[in-house]
Amino acid sequence: MLTRAAPYPVTMARDDTHGLGYHGVDEDPNVTVLVAAMEGTAGWDATRRLRAWERDRLALVPGERLLDVGCGLGEAALALAEDLGERGVVVGIDQSEQMLRVARSNARSARCHVRFVAGDARSLDEPDDSFDVARSERTLQWLASPEVAVAEMARAVRPAGRISLIDTDWSTYRIDVGDDAISELVRDAMRTERGRPSNIGRRLQGLVTAAGCEPVAKAEATQTWTSWDPDALPAPVGCFSMESLADDLVARDRLPATDRPTFVAAIHAAARRGQFSMRLTMFAVVATAP
Ligand SMILES: C[S@@+](CC[C@H](N)C(=O)[O-])C[C@H]1O[C@@H](n2cnc3c(N)ncnc32)[C@H](O)[C@@H]1O
Repeated sequence: MLTRAAPYPVTMARDDTHGLGYHGVDEDPNVTVLVAAMEGTAGWDATRRLRAWERDRLALVPGERLLDVGCGLGEAALALAEDLGERGVVVGIDQSEQMLRVARSNARSARCHVRFVAGDARSLDEPDDSFDVARSERTLQWLASPEVAVAEMARAVRPAGRISLIDTDWSTYRIDVGDDAISELVRDAMRTERGRPSNIGRRLQGLVTAAGCEPVAKAEATQTWTSWDPDALPAPVGCFSMESLADDLVARDRLPATDRPTFVAAIHAAARRGQFSMRLTMFAVVATAP
């Protein structure tokens, strides 16, 4: 039974070919990998920078009530809780009980009142105007209708409250292993969304505006990986494996299935030579609710 995610990548087998899909975490056979990978992404420099920016911009004050939609392991909300004092309230909702178990465990030392509960971002079980601030990080990209979730956040926040969104834009994903054909193949494929709003990072401002909110600040941060040892880690920290990337390209009809082993082997070989880099940009917006 999962009680606490082991530090990434201890829970990952060397031959793990996970794809990191967060639309149905508890049903995923790789649930422990998904939970552990969240710890990996929390350690990304880009994540740390955007969360620090968000904290600065939100400027939470003691006693405020914070909602985190798709809270995952809860550590971002708990860091913000430090600004809320003992009278503050944090509610984190997530559809994954496995994520929530870790979040509840992480919440033990929180000073304010914390509630991590199961829920659906598309239909929040929270009254109107019941929060001062609502945030959502890297969750909208897994929703078929992200605008519904943002409208729900706006509904749950009091008038003139704040809304904060952080999300990835996978069209910015680049890989460089010294092979232009591989770089271009991946770059071109990622431009198109497949089954989910994976490029939502660039649309965050439009989303809050459509929900009647007024954007007041925006930011972006690029995560870079400059090395990776495929013999030590099945995937770059917090990222999908190259097998999974190849599967995605095959599914997009960008890579013939027969070329999959060559594609993966070429990336692994380059990484072993020290010729491996990747980058990915995340975006953030803070807005005022109507
Ligand atoms: C990539 S994780 C991000 C977690 C956390 N916000 C963070 O940035 O570390 C996406 C989270 O959204 C949750 N999720 C996906 N669909 C959801 C939905 N419809 N309602 C609530 N949570 C959802 C997943 O269970 C997962 O915990």
